[in-house]
Amino acid sequence: MSRLVALPLSVLMLLNFVLSANGGNDPTRVRTGMVVSQSDIASQVGVEVMQEGGNAVDAAVATALAMAVTHPTAGNIGGGGFLIFRPNDGEPTAFDFREKAPAAAHPEMWLNEKGEYDYQRHHESHKAVGVPGTVAGLHLAWKTHGKLPWKRLVEPAVRLAADGFVVGDGLERSLKEQIDRFEKYPASLAQFTKDGKPYLAGDLLKQPDLARTLERIRDQGPAGFYEGETAELLVKDMEANGGLITLEDMKSYTAQQRTPLRGTYRGYDVIGMCPPSSGGVGVIEMLNILEGYDVRAAGAGSAANLHRMAEAMRRSFADRAQYLGDPDFNPEMPVARLISKEHAAELRKTIDESAASISTPESFEWAYESDETTHFSVVDGDRNAVSMTYTLEYAYGSAITVPGAGFILNNEMGDFNAAPGMTTTGGLIGTKPNLALPKKRMLSSMSPTIVVKDGELFMVTGSPGGRTIINTVLQTILNVVDHEMNAQEAVDAGRIHHQWLPSRIQYENQGFSPDTLAILRGLGHELYPIDKQGSAEVIVVNAKTGQLEGGVDRRRPDGGAAGY
Ligand code: DON
Repeated sequence: MSRLVALPLSVLMLLNFVLSANGGNDPTRVRTGMVVSQSDIASQVGVEVMQEGGNAVDAAVATALAMAVTHPTAGNIGGGGFLIFRPNDGEPTAFDFREKAPAAAHPEMWLNEKGEYDYQRHHESHKAVGVPGTVAGLHLAWKTHGKLPWKRLVEPAVRLAADGFVVGDGLERSLKEQIDRFEKYPASLAQFTKDGKPYLAGDLLKQPDLARTLERIRDQGPAGFYEGETAELLVKDMEANGGLITLEDMKSYTAQQRTPLRGTYRGYDVIGMCPPSSGGVGVIEMLNILEGYDVRAAGAGSAANLHRMAEAMRRSFADRAQYLGDPDFNPEMPVARLISKEHAAELRKTIDESAASISTPESFEWAYESDETTHFSVVDGDRNAVSMTYTLEYAYGSAITVPGAGFILNNEMGDFNAAPGMTTTGGLIGTKPNLALPKKRMLSSMSPTIVVKDGELFMVTGSPGGRTIINTVLQTILNVVDHEMNAQEAVDAGRIHHQWLPSRIQYENQGFSPDTLAILRGLGHELYPIDKQGSAEVIVVNAKTGQLEGGVDRRRPDGGAAGY
């Protein structure tokens, strides 16, 4: 609690809400409103907004901006993401604020003069930066659905940046890991180290340049970011370092309101993100396949279910690679077919319950993707819900802090495919739907999801983790719907990931018994242990008690479920 007491916000409010109070596998339970995020401080900021009469969208905006300060690993104003809003009394809607390629982008931009692929340029350069979308997206969501004044929602982030906040254990560890990358960029080194030495848990971290940028956003709205001083500082840094983003790219950026995807699973309605994220297609397609099995009878963590899940994942990821990209550039994408029950039935027929399938070798592996994004879930007293995931792509994105403006730039252009036709066994993808083009959005895996039962809000879920996101979200839903776990148990349970190629099941090494793994090997699966997968932040509405139950992912420190 010491980090909260040090917080220069309305500390008295502390008396009025719960922060991750329960232990063991108990979820955090509250009656009225809740935010579950990877930053306990930001969750608290969102709850205070609801206590002042704000709705779930207001709380999401305030939480997201606070996380741009307290969780610089992935919280951001220099990146982008997706927000799904389900009002309790209306149609769900989605906000797409994915970054866009600058106007000078082109499909061969990741090749050097000799026509060879240049990883550095694609993932770790000023050219890897997409035009940020977060500020436009949050503002559009607020303008269409928010209740409290914009300034009220930005102010806590301004204060946290100007007055500082107490560094937690997770931030200490992640900042330490980044010092080598920050050393290339003096503004990053100045902002995120103490004269080159790491911040430690308990230290106060102040970010004065970021505070001034947030003040401009507070006072001018998106113009405080996309025009004037902030945009000029960003473009100056681009021009000095071979970046492509121009003042015109900044000024012309727009977030997009879209219709989320709808699916069903065993009588539940599933609301998922549409392209340019592949998340909604993936989650719904896999649920459709698994609906044909008695998942519940086989039992959580059983080899039978893990095999079926892996085979569903294999097929869905193959479809993802073949078909998905920015809908504004790929009008022919067969999304309706991919999420149909008929397509799932066809795919299910190809699954052998007694043997692993083979992913065809003439296809390809996937490039490395980091697992640093962040998701949070919000439910307010009227049972309006927000599911939001946003990212800088890698941890701390490009690691470039805009000099004088104090925010970190994404390296999201790395999510575009490598080059036309450049599909290699070494991990490059050259399929057409996701090649870089001017103003195009790169394909994402982010999967903010809302589940509804008989017209009533049931569950809000999502996670970071690159392509593992889709599979983590799938498993949180199966754990709650089929295995009747509470929100915390559903988050805690071991996770697997299969992505078609490489053809193997990645699994959390503490999550499954040796005999279960032996059965999977016997079915022909290659197994690959990892430490941790994702960081799901989940809220479930308990229909019996009416309470909100929050599951915080303890795989990463510093998170918190706050509510009242
Ligand atoms: O949009 C995407 O799918 C990736 N850029 C997300 C990266 C990611 O999730 C990293 N971390 N969790």
